Parts: sequence; C-alpha cells; structure tokens
Amino acid sequence: MTDENIKSGLIPSELQIRAVGCDLSAALAALNARSFLGLSARPWTVEDFNQILGDEKSRAFGAFLSSREMAGYVLLRQVFDEAEILSIGVLESCRGKGIGSTLITSAAQSAVEAGANRLLLEVAEDNTTAIRFYENLGFAEIGKRPKYYLCDRNSRHIAALLLAVPLPLVGSEPRPATATT
Ligand SMILES: CC(C)(COP(=O)(O)OP(=O)(O)OC[C@H]1O[C@@H](n2cnc3c(N)ncnc32)[C@H](O)[C@@H]1OP(=O)(O)O)[C@@H](O)C(=O)NCCC(=O)NCCS
Repeated sequence: MTDENIKSGLIPSELQIRAVGCDLSAALAALNARSFLGLSARPWTVEDFNQILGDEKSRAFGAFLSSREMAGYVLLRQVFDEAEILSIGVLESCRGKGIGSTLITSAAQSAVEAGANRLLLEVAEDNTTAIRFYENLGFAEIGKRPKYYLCDRNSRHIAALLLAVPLPLVGSEPRPATATT
C-alpha cells in the first residue's frame, strides 16, 4: 500500500498494533523522519532506535495497515512505576483517523500491565496539534523545560512542555481506525 492509497481513503479497517523490535529499526527511523518533517531538526537514526530498543526498559509498537506497512509507531520507556513516551509519529496521510490515539492507549495498557501508574512525555510548546491530541487523551502540563528543542523551520530553540496522565487512562478503549469515505 502506498501513501496515495491511504490519501484516497483506502485505509483497511484491519489496523493492527504490534510490538516491534530492533529488526524494524530502519523502518522506525524512516517513519520518524517522515512524521517529524519540519518539526525536528534531527531525525532519529537507525542506531538511535537500535540503542533504545536494545534496552529492556524500552519497547515500541507499530500501527500496521498491512502485514508489512507501518503507518505509525510509539516508543516508550518504563522505569519502575513511571512510563515515558519517547517518540510517537503517524504518517501525515494517515492522521486524524485514531491511529495515534490507538498507539497511545496500547502503550498505556502495556505500561499498566508492567506496573506503571503514570505516563509522561515532552512536547514542543509550539506543536499545537500534538498538545491538543495529548489533552484529548487526558494529559495535563506538569512542567516546562526552556530552550529544549531545536526547531527545524527557523533554527530557534523552543521550550518543551512536560505532560503527564495517571494510569490507567480513563475511557481508554482504543478508537478503531475507520476508513474514510
Ligand atoms: C500527534 C500525532 C501522533 C497524532 O496522530 P493521529 O493519528 O493524527 O491521532 P488521532 O487521529 O488519534 O487524533 C488526532 C485527531 O483526529 C481526531 N480523530 C480521532 N479518531 C478519528 C476518526 N475515527 N475520524 C476522524 N477523526 C478522528 C481526534 O479527535 C483528533 O482531533 P483533534 O486533533 O482535532 O483533537 C500526529 O499528528 C503526528 O505524527 N504528528 C507529527 C509528529 C508529532 O508531533 N509527534 C508528537 C511529538 S511529542
């Protein structure tokens, strides 16, 4: 399936969320670069994913639209009872269909099963789409890190908001990714 298939509304209803490992680091890095185009000055490399996923505290989930094609991913790390979303991205042509929410709820569910009671993340303060997305899922701001990110568009440093949500998520039934008509 190509981006054109997706754009034209031919998203299969059988979206699958699956745990993924280092064997898919190259696909994860490619997806990261495409998802963060214009947002991040430094996409994550294959080595970054290899290193993070080589740590037993980290895990990743992919959103698959077919047996091989990943439309989105989420990467998280858990230390004792706190889990952190390290990165999440969905192909631009696949957004607004519940894939990102499904990835977060799947990650949250796995964190709960591993004993977490809080989910944290950092987001650039000008990434309003992502902030609204997280707020919809129940995240709230608990802090701010000034000049944390380097913006790809204007090479300026921007602050990161630190967001958190208690686990388990309230009303966290994953929304199915429905095909558009
Ligand atoms: C943030 C991101 C992961 C969200 O992914 P997504 O798949 O678009 O997320 P969802 O579809 O679950 O939710 C996004 C919106 O779609 C809406 N939506 C959810 N299910 C829907 C459905 N079945 N039909 C139509 N719209 C739907 C949601 O209400 C939400 O709308 P809102 O933004 O107006 O509140 C994605 O925008 C992305 O990859 N951005 C670039 C990378 C990035 O910023 N990552 C986060 C950095 S911290």
